[in-house]
Amino acid sequence: MINRRQMLALTGGIAAVAAVAPAFSFARASDGFFEITAGPAKKKLYTDGDVEADLWAYNASNPGPQIRVKAGERVKVRLINNLEEPTSIHWHGIRIQNDMDGVAGLTQDPVPPGGTFEYDFVVPDAGTYWYHAHNRSWNQVARGLYGPLIVEEVEPAFDRDHDITVVIDDWRLRDDGNLDLESLGNLMDWSHAGRLGNYLTVNGDSAPVFPLKRGEAYRVRLINVANARVMEIGADGAEGSILAYDGQTLPEPETIPSDPLLIGPAQRMDLLIRADKDFPLQLVTRGDRFSFVEFSVKDNEGAAVAEVKLPTAGTLPEPDLSSASTYTLEMTGGAMGQFVETRYNGKVLEGEDFRRTGQVWAFNGVANLSDTPFFSAKQGETIVVEVRNETSFVHAMHTHGHHFRVVEREGSTVDESARWRDTFLIGPSQKVRIAFVADNPGKWLFHCHMLEHAAAGMNTWFEVA
Ligand code: C2O
Ligand code: CU
Repeated sequence: MINRRQMLALTGGIAAVAAVAPAFSFARASDGFFEITAGPAKKKLYTDGDVEADLWAYNASNPGPQIRVKAGERVKVRLINNLEEPTSIHWHGIRIQNDMDGVAGLTQDPVPPGGTFEYDFVVPDAGTYWYHAHNRSWNQVARGLYGPLIVEEVEPAFDRDHDITVVIDDWRLRDDGNLDLESLGNLMDWSHAGRLGNYLTVNGDSAPVFPLKRGEAYRVRLINVANARVMEIGADGAEGSILAYDGQTLPEPETIPSDPLLIGPAQRMDLLIRADKDFPLQLVTRGDRFSFVEFSVKDNEGAAVAEVKLPTAGTLPEPDLSSASTYTLEMTGGAMGQFVETRYNGKVLEGEDFRRTGQVWAFNGVANLSDTPFFSAKQGETIVVEVRNETSFVHAMHTHGHHFRVVEREGSTVDESARWRDTFLIGPSQKVRIAFVADNPGKWLFHCHMLEHAAAGMNTWFEVA
């Protein structure tokens, strides 16, 4: 899918030198709120072209400003909507209080053009998170409405110079370098693998170079903000380990495997890297490899290499499988799917309805949100969801407000038992069981994070009383 043009762009020596320590690009208003304005912006993405792409952005920047706070702190953000359509912000992966979760239509009304909304919440866990638009997200995220949200440990395990955020996006550009807007909402994408792009950026740049000092330890926070692309990332040459998944630190780091790292839409992975020589990160796709980041090793001038103090794992409540309530979620629909009777807004969908409603996927025979939840949990109850993917596509399923354990994955020999996740990949015809303690009261979305799939039906919700 990555075309020749990108290959040229990524190997043509156009690398931008990245600033390692992110600057805060916004200030607090006098009432203590950070202001984030969603609106149109221009930015050159395709380096070989002349055209500045017409994006939607937060504070006119892509990615949006990096929010860095410490675990336990309160985040206050005033969203100002300068777009031509309603919007909202979701704080992906934060175990947040429900009315601040930012899901337009479930936890708040969408913010109309010209309107504002004040988010005010506490971030309980240190880790790598992100924020993004959660109204018509297939459209708004594709145009650039997202940014990193980094929650530092109270005593940060790495200083700012050794802590690198890598926000990876997959854009679909026209030949002149502008966004391909005509194909937004394309029903072919909705019924297949979602909107896949043809141009990768990292922190809004093409193939940036990050300088590292020889032998020193760095935390590299990878965030996949693509609408639909599952990224297979080759990190050969990175001597190191995986510290965290989806913002939750592992009790013991895992060695980086020799196979590419698999990072689905919305997923994050924190790496601990110590390098002696230069190495790239490469996107592995259809047998080709494209370098999209270069780490360039500089001498550390004989300075003593600091010992790293590894971050410690959080303390999420462990699910108790012996007393769990189990629910089954059958994923159906899409191209090449078997026909299953599907209801949408209480009506059975038939032949021509896809063109009319855009609905083509279903959970338990229902496309998109219904008035009744998938399940209702008592606060503190352990929930097991057995998810059966009866479609021909991979999906990236995300629970709002809760992290879970993958307790069973059909056909897999990888031990995932030490990981907490907020988004899991599920292969075609695969069955996966997840478990979590439903401890956060409110109405929570459970959906595919391939944003076209969510828009086309892969969306449900559960309630914690
Ligand atoms: Cu990353 Cu429902 O969201
Ligand atoms: Cu999906």
